[in-house]
Amino acid sequence: MGGWGDEVPLHESVTTQTKSQRMLDRAKRSIPGGVNTAKRRVQPPLCIRSGSGGRMETLDGRLLIDYHAAYGAVLLGHAHASVVGAVAEAIERGVLFGLGVTEGEVTLAEKIVQHVPSAEMVLLCGSGSEATLHAIRLARAVTGRPKIVKFQGAYHGFHDYVARNYLSVESRVGRCDPFSAGLLDAAVENTLVCGYNDLAALEDLFSRDAGCIAAVLVEPIAHNAASILPAEGFLAGLRALCDREGSLLIFDEVITGFRHHLGGFQAIAGVTPDLTTMAKALGNGFPVAALGGRLEHMHRFNTSDGGDVWFAGTYNGNVPGVAAALASIEFLEHHDVHGHLVRLGERMRAGLREIAARASVPATVTGYGSVFTMCFMEGPVARYEDLLRNDAELFVTYRRELARRGVFEVPENLGRSHLMYSHTDSDVDLTLEAAEHALRAALDSIARRQPGDILLEGHP
Ligand SMILES: Cc1ncc(COP(=O)(O)O)c(C=O)c1O
Repeated sequence: MGGWGDEVPLHESVTTQTKSQRMLDRAKRSIPGGVNTAKRRVQPPLCIRSGSGGRMETLDGRLLIDYHAAYGAVLLGHAHASVVGAVAEAIERGVLFGLGVTEGEVTLAEKIVQHVPSAEMVLLCGSGSEATLHAIRLARAVTGRPKIVKFQGAYHGFHDYVARNYLSVESRVGRCDPFSAGLLDAAVENTLVCGYNDLAALEDLFSRDAGCIAAVLVEPIAHNAASILPAEGFLAGLRALCDREGSLLIFDEVITGFRHHLGGFQAIAGVTPDLTTMAKALGNGFPVAALGGRLEHMHRFNTSDGGDVWFAGTYNGNVPGVAAALASIEFLEHHDVHGHLVRLGERMRAGLREIAARASVPATVTGYGSVFTMCFMEGPVARYEDLLRNDAELFVTYRRELARRGVFEVPENLGRSHLMYSHTDSDVDLTLEAAEHALRAALDSIARRQPGDILLEGHP
């Protein structure tokens, strides 16, 4: 894996073009921007050849300890033997049939119903965005109301229903902040935005839009906003307000589900939503997602006789996705994955706090279980507005320095990092050693920078 000191170049040569750069240049001729998701362009340019366990190998032949974990989708580790073995075996008998149901789909639904408290019934789809879209449409049908509430800083997918007020810059907080051109105004306007952990503001929205709010959609831990934790009573307060107002409570457990507990964060918090969306860790990297919820609501989908809410998807319940999800759940049932991840996560957060303290840098290490983020700011981190104090330049520069030392955390402001089950104590030791050097190097490089040199790409 190379050294962990100060002088480890990310690429074989800093003067010649790297293989990653050449691949991206080639890609740009047939793929807009060269990548298939907006956030996959990182600096310096990086393409991946393979992954195994807790590491990935770049096209340039460098091994990186991977805490990106595909935005948290890979929980057990890259190419995890029990998952890829189950998928390889299953697809020998076909990949997709598109009618009736397979035994795997039934067993997977039964497993989710068994583990996830709110899931009395389950439908499978292909991605987290699909799951949140279906959940919102169902909530509108059930309540006959047009509006939903999401929280500032939350990300729930790419579709119009939720495409606003993600990592808003300060001047856009409290205002309409769509994150794309081409959105339907009506969709954006019917999505109200509330401050996370602010029950009083939600009360205000409910009184302002009385009888119009179909659902409150929440990431139970605000992982897309540096993992702000729910304040004591916040999730229970959402439950009580939704009950009082006749709105549905939707937990978006696309990140928290399976990563923190087999039953999702709802099993830890003891708060049961009406609907739950799941994806990412469910399939350990394979594209599979699920929507679970109360029986009477789920029967509104037109997969049931008399259902009037359209539910479809050519790839729903595909064989590899289902096999991957079943193998992942079975692995979680039989191994203490979460115990291992929580222990490593606590070591990592404590170690990073010590490193920042030794460097006399204001830092708050946020996170939960396997997720961690070192924000360069004084605490507390309880509201989205707190994150605006983060030193974005130091955050991104530090992560680029980390990558130079063989540790990959997304070099994007406020990006969270994820441990995988394949990571070990020795990975944490190597990471903390690299972090100490990377922080020093980042501080030095910022001190040497001239005004106008700042290398951030449009992040808040
Ligand atoms: C909480 C949450 N919900 C939904 C999504 C959308 O999932 P997908 O990218 O699979 O469409 C994401 C993606 O990062 C997410 O973090």
